[in-house]
Amino acid sequence: MTSKIHPTAFIHETAVVDEGAQISAGVKIWHFCHVMPGAKIGKNSSLGQGCYVASSVVIGEDCKIQNGVSLYDGVVLEDQVFIGPHAVFTNVKFPRAHRKGKFETTLIKKGCTIGAGAVIICGTTCGEWSMVAASACVTRDVPPGVTVMGVPAVVKKSRNHHLEKLNI
Ligand SMILES: CC(C)(COP(=O)(O)OP(=O)(O)OC[C@H]1O[C@@H](n2cnc3c(N)ncnc32)[C@H](O)[C@@H]1OP(=O)(O)O)[C@@H](O)C(=O)NCCC(=O)NCCS
Repeated sequence: MTSKIHPTAFIHETAVVDEGAQISAGVKIWHFCHVMPGAKIGKNSSLGQGCYVASSVVIGEDCKIQNGVSLYDGVVLEDQVFIGPHAVFTNVKFPRAHRKGKFETTLIKKGCTIGAGAVIICGTTCGEWSMVAASACVTRDVPPGVTVMGVPAVVKKSRNHHLEKLNI
């Protein structure tokens, strides 16, 4: 398996990008990241310091992933997704040390923002342009365009007023 690393991608010398990863044009991968074989990272997306990307993960275009985020098998990020520092993804709903659990899909739709330190329980979808507040815990699907906060995360604003600033 050979890696497809576009010549315009920047990979810091301390990062490990395994053979078979697909890294598109303009991607930036900063210090101490690890990208597994088969992972796909779309154009102009960036991984901050100390991120991990598992083999079946797909990251869209123009995504920004801040420091210390692990994207486990089953996580899909569409285009223009922002992941705040140290947000936590999961991929097994009932993990046990003595058996392998079933990986579930977590889908983060276009333009969604996940705040710093938020926890996303697997099997959920965060809708287009939705906003997950810092430190929230997402346990159910998040509708498009809303802001959710708290543990468990609930809709606090039915239309995310920050969208107006983006002209969306
Ligand atoms: C959710 C967020 C976008 C603010 O949204 P907002 O609509 O402007 O919210 P406001 O500041 O007007 O606050 C509205 C209410 O939500 C509460 N609130 C704000 N952020 C909260 C959070 N993360 N968790 C729980 N409650 C929160 C406020 O205390 C306020 O409560 P009140 O109505 O009882 O007074 C922001 O607080 C946030 O979490 N941003 C993410 C920051 C981040 O992670 N950045 C990463 C890059 S550094």
